Amino acid sequence: MRESTGNNFMSLQFAAKSENEAFARVAVAAFISRLDPTMDELSDLKTVVSEAVTNSIIHGYDSDPSGVVTIKVGIEMDVVTLVIEDAGRGIEDLELAKQPLYTSKPELERSGMGFTIMENFMDEFEALSEPGGGTSVRMKKRIESKKALYN
Ligand SMILES: Nc1ncnc2c1ncn2[C@@H]1O[C@H](COP(=O)(O)OP(=O)(O)OP(=O)(O)O)[C@@H](O)[C@H]1O
Ligand SMILES: [Mg+2]
Repeated sequence: MRESTGNNFMSLQFAAKSENEAFARVAVAAFISRLDPTMDELSDLKTVVSEAVTNSIIHGYDSDPSGVVTIKVGIEMDVVTLVIEDAGRGIEDLELAKQPLYTSKPELERSGMGFTIMENFMDEFEALSEPGGGTSVRMKKRIESKKALYN
């Protein structure tokens, strides 16, 4: 049962520490659980949160824990809007950065698939970035819900 389909939002900020990535994933999952997502939908949302938060920490802030990551989650009817932002180094060439397999940190064994995963797992994806001015990714996904599957 859906507890509520009215508009709602939450926002949270945390230090750019890798241990906070799991917290962010769980916090977002808990917030959207009222939409009664399927395991697949929940798993997709947790994965994109993880990819975007990890990007902010390791690329945006070069793992400097004094950086702050902000997450905003909105619910409008059955659509989840996810915004993940940092005030870090920003991205010089966004089109290049979004290419599958492009990574600026091959030495850290990154695979360059984070943005591609976000684009594929969500219905809408948009990244904004300014060199020296931080990065913001904004994504939307419609949740079908388990209830819809049973009807
Ligand atoms: N928040 C960010 N701040 C600064 N640069 C970023 C940010 N997010 C992504 N980038 C840049 O975009 C590139 C591509 O990001 P993407 O997540 O697709 O790959 P990756 O993080 O390098 O590898 P993977 O996500 O597969 O571990 C990064 O290598 C980095 O140069
Ligand atoms: Mg990444």
